[in-house]
Amino acid sequence: MRLIDGKAVAAQIRKEIAEEVTSIKKAGGKIPHLAAVLVGHDGGSETYMASKVRTCEEVGFKSSLIRYEDDVTEEELLACVDRLNNDSDVDGFIVQLPLPKHISEQKIIEAIDYRKDVDGFHPINVGRMSIGLPCFVSATPAGILELFKRYEIETKGKHCVVLGRSNIVGKPVASLMMQKAYPGDCTVTVCHSRSQNLKEMCQSADIIIAALGVPEFLKADMVKEGAVVIDVGTTRVPSALTKSGFKLAGDVKFDEVSPKCSYITPVPGGVGPMTIVSLMRNTLLAGKKEIYK
Ligand code: GUN
Repeated sequence: MRLIDGKAVAAQIRKEIAEEVTSIKKAGGKIPHLAAVLVGHDGGSETYMASKVRTCEEVGFKSSLIRYEDDVTEEELLACVDRLNNDSDVDGFIVQLPLPKHISEQKIIEAIDYRKDVDGFHPINVGRMSIGLPCFVSATPAGILELFKRYEIETKGKHCVVLGRSNIVGKPVASLMMQKAYPGDCTVTVCHSRSQNLKEMCQSADIIIAALGVPEFLKADMVKEGAVVIDVGTTRVPSALTKSGFKLAGDVKFDEVSPKCSYITPVPGGVGPMTIVSLMRNTLLAGKKEIYK
């Protein structure tokens, strides 16, 4: 069994991005600028956002954090999106999800200029991704594919089972794994809460991508010997052992599943660190106008 060290790969990619920013600076080019909009004080969102801002500093990007209270109106938020769309200094921006119930997330996402949509959530980016055109690919799926690449894991012709069908992870990663490309060229099965033969599907999988958000859902008897297991779960569960009072729980029962795997990602330290560097890479591409002019 080989542990996929997402933390180490992410550190290497941050270094690569930082080197590129240094060359841009030397050549007198524009420093990439990521803006992030945060509504309210959700614990998870605060943590992710702090990490995103810190990573921007580390790689040498300019970053701006725009905060609103929970009672911000949809109109105010749409006006903010409009300002960022029209701010020529901002190369890319994100609106952290989830948003309060009185605001339509879809309306906000669709208001973002797709050329600045470094989260890759806008329907134009989702559509372009699904037909294999250059676009901003959302961060978690992009991070997972990068791990396959960096560990040179064979994917061609493999049966890949994706657990979960969210717009952010399950659907896009399934679409990418079936693409005529490397990583890709898989036969993909997507299982979800209504699937009837989920266990049998998993047992026949060469690659399992678990993105359900159910702690320790994937057990040893569901996994074939030699499978590659990617754990996208990051459920915050109470813990007496950490200072913050919670820990991150994956979707895989790691202790019993890992001995059967050829490769497996841990939680934390697997997919999580890759997500933020993928956002940084999208921001770099936005800054360089490499995808959209
Ligand atoms: N909430 C959880 N993950 C994400 C993400 O990748 N982007 C945004 N905007 N919100 C999130």
